[in-house]
Amino acid sequence: MSLMKVSGSKWRLVLTAVLVCSVFLDVARCQKDAQKHRAATGRKITQGKAKPDKESRSVTSKPRTRATPAARQLNSRGSRSVRPIKVLNRGKFKKVGETISVPTGETLELRCRGNPVQWSVPSYLQEDDEGRLRIVQNERYGVLTLVNSTGADTGEYTCYPMYCEDTDCRKEYDKAVKVFVFFPDPQELFVPSSDYYKVIQLRTNWPTVLPCQVTSPEAKVSLHREFPPAEVAVDGSEISFNVRTGFTIHRPRPYHAGALYCVASRGGLRHSSTKYMLIYVHYPTAAPSPVIQASVSSVVRGENLRVTCTVVGEQGVAVDFTWDYPGEQSGRPPYTQENVSPVPGGTSQQQQQSQSVLLVDEVRDVDQGTYTCTAQNLQGAKSVSTTVKVVNKAKPKKPEPRG
Ligand SMILES: *[C@@H]1O[C@H](CO)[C@@H](O)[C@H](O)[C@H]1NC(C)=O
Repeated sequence: MSLMKVSGSKWRLVLTAVLVCSVFLDVARCQKDAQKHRAATGRKITQGKAKPDKESRSVTSKPRTRATPAARQLNSRGSRSVRPIKVLNRGKFKKVGETISVPTGETLELRCRGNPVQWSVPSYLQEDDEGRLRIVQNERYGVLTLVNSTGADTGEYTCYPMYCEDTDCRKEYDKAVKVFVFFPDPQELFVPSSDYYKVIQLRTNWPTVLPCQVTSPEAKVSLHREFPPAEVAVDGSEISFNVRTGFTIHRPRPYHAGALYCVASRGGLRHSSTKYMLIYVHYPTAAPSPVIQASVSSVVRGENLRVTCTVVGEQGVAVDFTWDYPGEQSGRPPYTQENVSPVPGGTSQQQQQSQSVLLVDEVRDVDQGTYTCTAQNLQGAKSVSTTVKVVNKAKPKKPEPRG
């Protein structure tokens, strides 16, 4: 990284700057010919024509693909141009709050005190190669400039001051300054997506977010179920809405599954979002805790051996078993029996017992050693082992001929 190439003396300066100055964001907006840019950058997602498959990416000639705003970092001294920027009709600077709205077509300029600082921007913008985004580091502050803005630029913009020791710099996450910027698009209430639908896993008790990001904080947004068609109640506790993050289902249950979409309205406009296909996954709270037991710890050569691996866990949670056993190397095939049953004599109906039994017929010397069972569910895997000895008949009534 080019950050590393700065000489040592400069870093001391840098460090001072970071320590002395608190970081804040200024915003300056430069009115340009917004109307003209709107016309130039206006684009529509022709959702109705999109096919629900991978080919939907070619819906527009230049799809405005957006992912989550969790972002690749843009280095303020990186490959982007470091020419001084020209700010036309420089406006007044002001401290920004949590959110700001910038009319589409206008230029967004964010300043963040500190040297160096790093920025993160909505990931869609990182892929934008039209040169609309510029990041410059000045002596005392970093400047992010975005020209010809569109509704698709809506999202979180973050400035991280850097803490440097010698040539080692890291972001100071706790001092990050974030601002959510809306670019209210007169034609598009939702931030465009090239996907016709999105598949989202609903995991038991894990909050699930349907982003349906709007371009304007003034848009009224509701949540709808496709079949049977109905508006979904948003009570603020089971399901809540935030104009920056979308709808959150706080503790998913099986009945939340299905096809959902958002509807935004503002003025005379009413738009539907991408569809969200919610698939419910019974998600375990923890990795399984298997218990292993061999039918005997010393098995007589020629007799049969059973090694049992048992997991007691939540009902409806699938457990996968795999085995490692000594005879494997000698080409012994694994014979296993698996079953799932209610916990025997169990008090809780919420629990089930999953079992895998490894069967070794007519034990030979190669079967002596360590038997390992690995039990896995969606939360993780755990292995347990036991050792088995192969012995001669303990007290043979008719001693076998040896040799
Ligand atoms: C911004 O839009 C204007 C007018 O359409 C165009 O001339 C200019 O090249 C654009 N700038 C960038 C960096 O895309």
